[in-house]
Amino acid sequence: MALPRWRINEAAGINEVNLLGIICQSQTTGKACFWDNISKETGQRIRGGEDLTFKIADIHNGDMLGENCTQCHRGKNVFLIHPGTTIDISSDYDIDPNVRYQPVSSQGWTNPPAFTELGDGACASCHEIGDLSFSYCNMLLKKAANLTMPNADNPAGWVGDDSFYGTHIQAMIDDRCSP
Ligand code: HEC
Ligand code: HEC
Repeated sequence: MALPRWRINEAAGINEVNLLGIICQSQTTGKACFWDNISKETGQRIRGGEDLTFKIADIHNGDMLGENCTQCHRGKNVFLIHPGTTIDISSDYDIDPNVRYQPVSSQGWTNPPAFTELGDGACASCHEIGDLSFSYCNMLLKKAANLTMPNADNPAGWVGDDSFYGTHIQAMIDDRCSP
């Protein structure tokens, strides 16, 4: 799956792909590979419009990327999906690997064990909660609780909420969400 982030290039007067993270996951082995549109040759981003092309072998991968994708990309499957958003590909693809996902990287990246295993705690009734890093807490967990989880019509939130979900979320936040 590739996620283009577009920007306006004022000088060239065009709308162009600025960031282009790419992730691929094997359903059978759970191995996941990461790339970003940074040239191996120049170390610069390879940008362009709709017709942008490059060879996957020519861009940075999990062996050399400076940004550790697994700070956020963790859990049973590698993908980070809020159900019902445009990147929710779960109705077209089976994103749940047979084996818990493991990053392919010679830099020691890992998918650390779950913070809450599937079935152990309110929020983990449908999926595990990935290990809590500062990034995971602030980019994923808090947003999910406020906006999409357990469903977008009635998100749990947590501030001052001592309900079923609220207590579990507050415990997760107290545990490891501070820098
Ligand atoms: C600070 C947290 C964070 C880091 C680090 C991060 N991502 Fe993501 N990534 C996200 C979030 C959050 C989403 C979901 C975006 C959305 O809902 O719009 C996402 C989505 C994606 C997607 C779309 C598929 C999916 O999982 O939803 C790709 C591809 C992707 N990221 C690639 C990468 C790559 C490659 C790296 C490392 C170079 C990386 N990301 C690092 C937070 C992060
Ligand atoms: C009714 C089932 C259900 C419950 C309950 C639920 N979730 Fe989810 N959640 C999902 C589904 C489906 C996804 C889609 C992504 C996937 O499977 O990877 C998701 C995705 C997420 C993500 C995005 C990260 C990722 O790996 O894709 C976070 C964070 C999250 N949930 C947190 C929570 C929290 C916090 C609660 C408790 C308030 C909660 N969830 C309760 C079904 C649920």
